Order: sequence, then structure tokens, then C-alpha cells
Amino acid sequence: MENKQMLQTRGAIYVPPIEEFNTEEKRANPFPILKELRENTPLRYEESTGMWDVFLYEDCIRILKDPKTFSSNFKRDNRNVENIISVDPPRHQEFRELVNGVFTPKAVADLAPRIQEILDLLLDQVIDHDRINTVFDVSAPLPVMVIAELLGVPVTDRLYFKELSDTLVTGVEDDSEVTYQRVLSKREHARQTLNDYFLHHLNQRKKQPTADLTSKLWYTNAEKQVLDEEQILGFLTTLLVAGHETTTNLIAAMVRVLCEQPQFQDRLRSEPNLISGFVEETLRYYPSVPRVTRRATTDVEIRGQVIREGQLIQVWTASANRDAAKFEHPDLFDPTRQPNAHITFGFGNHFCLGAPLARLEAQIALGTIVKRLGNIRLVEGAKIEPTPFPLFTAVKEYPITFEA
Ligand code: HEM
Repeated sequence: MENKQMLQTRGAIYVPPIEEFNTEEKRANPFPILKELRENTPLRYEESTGMWDVFLYEDCIRILKDPKTFSSNFKRDNRNVENIISVDPPRHQEFRELVNGVFTPKAVADLAPRIQEILDLLLDQVIDHDRINTVFDVSAPLPVMVIAELLGVPVTDRLYFKELSDTLVTGVEDDSEVTYQRVLSKREHARQTLNDYFLHHLNQRKKQPTADLTSKLWYTNAEKQVLDEEQILGFLTTLLVAGHETTTNLIAAMVRVLCEQPQFQDRLRSEPNLISGFVEETLRYYPSVPRVTRRATTDVEIRGQVIREGQLIQVWTASANRDAAKFEHPDLFDPTRQPNAHITFGFGNHFCLGAPLARLEAQIALGTIVKRLGNIRLVEGAKIEPTPFPLFTAVKEYPITFEA
């Protein structure tokens, strides 16, 4: 397997699973395995993947706060439109300043009543059923409906969006040419379709601006001239995709904790101020994203080993979050944990732009779920599977029973 060369050309599509996580069984409970890796090989070069793996909190932070040495620009897809996630400073600052101006905390906070409405609507539809499929019924539709609202596109297009957005992030586990080409062409088609969709939407907003994020982005950019039109379309797609599955996984993970540790159900009802801590602790404990990737821009030494210029590094944030050197009793779920410096939203200049929105959605979802559903239990005998690779620290579905 000519890994190094393949990774350079295949970008984000082919992220080879490390030996420890090369089957679904091994991925179903990754935390004890990550603990062993922290203890035995905290920093290692993996022959089978041609990448470095970094497991300790301290090392993850060191890498993420040094974009000069550890670049985010490692994708070599056929098309390479400049994208916020993969540009480095100083260009990254320009991107960020532009979008910080439009994706403001106020714009996000203003969405709260609408998020509540959407959630109530979703729960109304299933509350008299015997069971709820947490992901299908609640946690998958909510984020896509919210982002559609923010961008000003019809919420009724949400299923269409979801399908395209899922296709765009499809990864492959096997490295055969046939699979790679098939996934590449499906992804390219989804990207083009979303591009055309947003182009149509943007053209409408150019003629008739509204208060939505698409209009704000277009007009703010017209003053600052940071992005060209293609990059604006790419950014709209990024927002749609980045906030999707991650927030879905977070909400499903919270329901999972409520079932695994049912004492929290009553506790959250009597102590609603625990809700934000519960959301943060879920982010740490069952993270939606297990790792992020960087590329060394120069030879650099860490823990006596030399990472060579051009080599890729997997920064295992899911492992950092359970590092005992940073978190007391790391395997204990404690919503009162203070401080809770998890790095599930990343760290440094690329820190998740959508974190305030994800937190708001999750807090409203948790508050509403414990208010409207009592005695929440995992359906007896339900088999819990990890989400498809590479986001495997979450669950595909989490069916529950409850008392309304
Ligand atoms: C960046 C996680 C929700 C938009 C990131 C990064 C992580 C992350 C780890 C950093 C990537 C890196 O350093 O390479 C999450 C998680 C979420 C979530 C766990 C939910 C639980 C959202 C939402 C949106 C969003 C709701 C938007 C609607 C973005 C954007 C970036 C980003 C635009 C790129 C920021 C930059 O590069 O400067 N996210 N995200 N995310 N996220 Fe999120």
C-alpha cells in the first residue's frame, strides 16, 4: 500500500483507520483502547497509515496552537477551493474576521425561540409513539432545520440537504481504486449540486436582501472583498455540512448518558442550571469528532521523535479529553466539572465557529427532552452501533422508550 502518496492525493476521502480501530467491534468502545494508547505509545508513527498519532492532551494543544508548524492545509482533492477549515494564517484571519462579523453570538441567540419551536414540533410528531428513534426522529432533523433557517433557505428542503451533506462527508475505509473513484464522483456531484442550489439562493438575495446569513455574508464581503463568489458558495456549503452530523451526534450522546446514568434525569429537572455543564461534559465524554488532522510544515521534534516536513498528524482530541493529566477522574461523567477544558470543538485559530450554535441547540434539546419525556430508557435488547467511520465516537441510532 503506497500510503504516503495516496494520502497526499486522496485528502479527506481516505483516512485509514489505525490498527486499533479497524473493525466496528473495536470502534464500539474506543475509550479503554485510547487509554492504553496514551499510556503505551503517546506519540507514534503508524506504518500502516503513514501518519503520526498524538494521544496526550498536552501534545494535542501544542500542535493545535501552532498553525505555523502544523498546517491545516493538507487536502489535495481534485478541486481545491480555498476553505476556512483548511487555510492557514494570515489568510485564515481574513476569513475568520469576515465570518465572525456575520455568524455573531447575537444572530445565534436570536434563533432560540425558533429552535424551541422546531424541537416541540419534532417531539409532537412522536410523543404518542411507543418509542422514539433519537437520531432519526429528533437529533438528525433539528440541526439541518436550524441551519436552513439561519441561511434563509426553505426548511422543506431539509431532506435534500441532509442527503447531499451526508454524501459530501462520506469517507472510505478501503483503499481500492474502484471505491475511491466511486466515492469521489458521488462527492463531486453532491458538491456541485449544493453549489448550484446556493448560487440560485445567493442570486435571489443579491436582488432582494433579507436579514438572513446569506445576505449578510454577501454584503459584508462586498465591503471587505475577502472571498470571491465561489468561495462564498463553498462557505455556505461548509456551514451546512459542518454543523450537521456533529450536532446530531451530540444530542444523541446526551440521550445515551441519560439512559446509562438515569439519576441525571430527575436531577436535571430539579436543577436546570446543570444543563449547560451536562452539555459540556457530554462533549468531553462522548465527543462527536474523535480527531483532527494537521500537516507538519517543517521537521519538528516532540517527545524525542522527529516528525518530518510534510507528514500528516492525527490529533486525537477524543483521547486528550480523557487524559488523567488534565481531567480528574476522566472516565467519570460529571456535569459539575469545573473547569471543563475539553477540546471537542478544537483549539486555537480554527476553534469551531459554530460552537455557540451547537451549544444552544444542545441545551434547548436537553431541557426539552427531560421536561417532556419521563423515565427515558434504551429499548430493551437494542444493539448500539458506532457511527460510520471516520466519526466513530458517536452512535448510529439510540432507540428509547419513555413516559410522556
Ligand atoms: C470547526 C467540531 C458544530 C461550523 C470545527 C472544528 C471542530 C469542530 C473540532 C475544528 C477543526 C480543526 O481544527 O481542524 C464541532 C462539533 C460540533 C460542531 C463537535 C457540534 C457538536 C458546528 C456547527 C457549525 C460548525 C453547528 C455551523 C453551523 C464550523 C466551522 C469550522 C468548524 C465553519 C471551521 C472554523 C475555522 O476553521 O476557523 N468544528 N463543530 N460547527 N466548525 Fe464545528
